[in-house]
Amino acid sequence: MTESPLHAALAAAAADVEKSLDRLLPAAIGPEGRLMEAMRYASLSGGKRLRPFLVLESAGIFDVKRVCALRAATAVECVHCYSLVHDDLPAMDDDDLRRGKPTVHKAFDEATAVLAGDALLTYAFELLAAPDTHDDPRVRLELVAVLAQASGPHGMVGGQMADLAAEAPDAEFDLGAVTRMQKMKTGALIQAAAEVGAILGKASPEARAALRGYAHDLGLAFQITDDLLDVEGRVEDTGKAVAKDAARGKATFVSILGVERARAQAERLIDQAIRHIAMFGSRADNLSALARYVIERKS
Ligand code: IPE
Ligand code: IPE
Ligand code: MG
Ligand code: MG
Ligand code: MG
Repeated sequence: MTESPLHAALAAAAADVEKSLDRLLPAAIGPEGRLMEAMRYASLSGGKRLRPFLVLESAGIFDVKRVCALRAATAVECVHCYSLVHDDLPAMDDDDLRRGKPTVHKAFDEATAVLAGDALLTYAFELLAAPDTHDDPRVRLELVAVLAQASGPHGMVGGQMADLAAEAPDAEFDLGAVTRMQKMKTGALIQAAAEVGAILGKASPEARAALRGYAHDLGLAFQITDDLLDVEGRVEDTGKAVAKDAARGKATFVSILGVERARAQAERLIDQAIRHIAMFGSRADNLSALARYVIERKS
C-alpha cells in the first residue's frame, strides 16, 4: 500500500487499537497468567485491524467520542482474534502460521488456545456492557445484541460449521451455498463492525442501512480476496500458509468461479459497496478508499 490518507488513517487506528488492547488485557499472575499471555499473544501480534477501523470510521461519521468508539472497536477485534485462534486449531484448519508468527496452539498448547479464544470472546461482551463504552444502557444492549448475532450460530460460528462441511468429499456446494457460507463466516462480523459505529452514533435507520449495505458487499469482497490470496498470494506477504484451500478440497469462490471471475465479482461488489455510502459525502472518503484497498491488498 502506498502512502495515502487511507494508509495514515489505518496506521493510526491500528496503533490506537493496540494501545487499547495492551491496556485492557494486562499481564496477570497466578494460573490465569498463562491465559492472559496467550490472549495478548493472540491479539497483539499484528493484523490489519480492518474491523476496528470500520467501527472507528463509521462512528466518526456520527461524531462519536473516539474513546467510546475505541472500546467498541477493541471488543470487535477481540471477537475476530478469537475466531482466528480457533480457526487455526488442528481440529479446524490446522495452521501453524498466523500473522507471520506461530499460531497460538503452537506457541502455547491446544488447551490454552481454546481457552484464550473463549476468554477473548467473552471479554468482548464484558467491554461492550460496561458504562465506559456508552452512557445509554439501550445503546450498550444493542451493541451486545448485534455483536452476539454476528458471532453466533447465524453468523460467524454457523459459517465456520458450513466451512467444515465445504471440505467434505461429497459436499455439494454451489455458488449460492458458498456465498451464504462466506456471508456468515466473514461477512457477518464485518457488517456488525460498521453497524456498531452507527449504533454508537444513534444513526437514523437510513444511515444505518447504508452502512450495513456497504459492509455486506465489502465483507463478501473481502472473503473473495482471501480466497484469491490463498491461491495467488505469497506467505511472506500474507503471514499465513497459502494453497491450503485447494489442498483440503474446500469449496470457495475461487474453486467455483475460477480466479478471473472471482476477481471480477469482488470488483463489482466493491463498486456497489461504495455506492451505498454516497449519502455521507466526504465523511465516508476513508470507507470508500478502504473498499478499494480490500480487493487490492496482498496481505
Ligand atoms: C482473516 O482475516 C480471516 C478471514 C476472515 C478471512 P484478516 O485478513 O482480517 O486477518 P488479520 O486480522 O489482518 O490478521
Ligand atoms: C476464517 O476463514 C474465517 C474466520 C476465522 C471466521 P479462513 O480459514 O479462510 O481464514 P484464514 O485464511 O485462515 O485466515
Ligand atoms: Mg477456516
Ligand atoms: Mg483458516
Ligand atoms: Mg482463507
